[in-house]
Amino acid sequence: MINKEILSDTDAIYNYMNGDTVLGYIEIRLVDGVLDIMNLYVNEEERRKGIASSLLNEVIEKEDYNRIMLEVNENNNEAIRLYTKFGFTEISLRERYYGEDTAIIMEKVK
Ligand SMILES: CC(C)(COP(=O)(O)OP(=O)(O)OC[C@H]1O[C@@H](n2cnc3c(N)ncnc32)[C@H](O)[C@@H]1OP(=O)(O)O)[C@@H](O)C(=O)NCCC(=O)NCCS
Repeated sequence: MINKEILSDTDAIYNYMNGDTVLGYIEIRLVDGVLDIMNLYVNEEERRKGIASSLLNEVIEKEDYNRIMLEVNENNNEAIRLYTKFGFTEISLRERYYGEDTAIIMEKVK
């Protein structure tokens, strides 16, 4: 089951629950039609079971946005694959955004 927790006028977290236990979550910010994915995390032992995909699908279905944006570490292959599968494309790079590592800025237009 996925619960939405509203944090403020702009910020919310969707939690993927198994009973009372949170298995994964996505944190979002929605300002002027631009939805930022601030964080996406699935517990290590629960990965590769479709939980991140369910969370992303829920956000895509429920939120009223024009485009979604996010930053991902260039070396985070799992996440890049996930976002590419969902139709996100690279729009720019921010070098040394993560220490030595570059951030890829990805976007998905509705
Ligand atoms: C990235 C992350 C959220 C994926 O969560 P998940 O629940 O395992 O993802 P899903 O099971 O929904 O996987 C969906 C797709 O993502 C890609 N993917 C996910 N894990 C992968 C892996 N280990 N290797 C290759 N591709 C992977 C695949 O395309 C997968 O589709 P498939 O299973 O049909 O091949 C998870 O690995 C995580 O929490 N990582 C640490 C935090 C993080 O990096 N967050 C992203 C910050 S931008």
